[in-house]
Amino acid sequence: MAGWLSEAHRVIRRCEELARFSEEAGRITRTFLSAPVRKVHACLAEWSAAAGMSSRVDAAGNFCARLSGSDPNARVLYLGSHIDTVRDAGPFDGILGVVLAFSLVEALAGQSRGFAVEVIAFSEEEGVRFGVPFIGSRALAGTLDPELLSRRDARGHSVADAIRDFGLDPAALPDAVLPATALGYLEFHIEQGPILEQLGLPLGIVDAIAGQSRFELVFTGQANHAGTTPSDMRRDALAGAAEWIARVECECRATADLRATVGALQVLPGVSNVIPGEVKATLDVRHANDDVRCRSVQSLLHQAQQIAERRRLGFGAEQRLDQCATPLDATMTSALERAVCRAGFVPHHLMSGAGHDAMILAPRCPAAMLFLRSPGGISHHPAETVLPDDVAAALAVGSEFLNGLEVTHA
Ligand code: GLV
Ligand code: MN
Ligand code: MN
Repeated sequence: MAGWLSEAHRVIRRCEELARFSEEAGRITRTFLSAPVRKVHACLAEWSAAAGMSSRVDAAGNFCARLSGSDPNARVLYLGSHIDTVRDAGPFDGILGVVLAFSLVEALAGQSRGFAVEVIAFSEEEGVRFGVPFIGSRALAGTLDPELLSRRDARGHSVADAIRDFGLDPAALPDAVLPATALGYLEFHIEQGPILEQLGLPLGIVDAIAGQSRFELVFTGQANHAGTTPSDMRRDALAGAAEWIARVECECRATADLRATVGALQVLPGVSNVIPGEVKATLDVRHANDDVRCRSVQSLLHQAQQIAERRRLGFGAEQRLDQCATPLDATMTSALERAVCRAGFVPHHLMSGAGHDAMILAPRCPAAMLFLRSPGGISHHPAETVLPDDVAAALAVGSEFLNGLEVTHA
């Protein structure tokens, strides 16, 4: 593992270098096919050429770089993660899995292999620009429905417009689908939670990824003068939304392992001396058990409706995501466990509360994931970090995995 430490430092430097490409000065924000994505692609294209890989950008804006196998028809192992970020993100969520994959491929150069390796930098995983996540990986899985292409961002541009504006052709999306002969998909990612740190472990093997539901809700009241309207005559949309948000927190506390979050609110007209007339809110609900998640979602929507009726507010909810919990591939996960052991680490298994591209690809091809410890359990925040020793550990495991890969012909 000591041999990987200087490469680990290089991986971290490269992640920090890519973090400079942002839509916002002084913080990391990079949404689906925004201008800084071109700069990331340019960097990745340089690295690919230097590593002897051919590269292209597919119709969903995924950057794909391939190192061919000894046989031109060899099956392909896919490595990667996403290069979009949340707003005001840290420098490692997603991008670490891409950069680390390039280092592993560079280490393979000159070896004869019975398989090809393709690094994929997914264009969209977070759902920031269009409110719907996994656009990049859904294109590879063949589950990008036409309805999603017409979804609009805050400026009124549709997903299809964003693809065209980037110089790509939405009509070519079917070509992005992974071939049925794909060997599998392996993703390295920071844990984004506190478990590995609590256990004192650098790495974790992901067995399954929690399901998630996302909604956009609207409470509609009556905007009116803040100084003259008596309490019993108000229809305050924000007071209604606030009462409901407190219920969301109660639902979470009352349901084991449920995660429910109202992450964004838009208050209109948003003026200090006007009673809020409209509130738009997001809801994100996650659980390892889909029945528990769906029951909680129904209960939360029902409570919102009741609160709205009592307060004489209008209420509406639109679902943006209903993603079921996803087990990862048992055979590929066992191969990953063997690689962890050969690299000299304790194979600890865990489940992921965060969503990942691997969960979208899993129905299409065998998928496995390795987590790296997240210091302080912090992620989706600029303080997000990773330890060089843990990156070196992940590189050692990745190398063992690739060297031990047994390929059968499709
Ligand atoms: C992706 O980061 C998620 O929200 O789980
Ligand atoms: Mn994320
Ligand atoms: Mn991520």
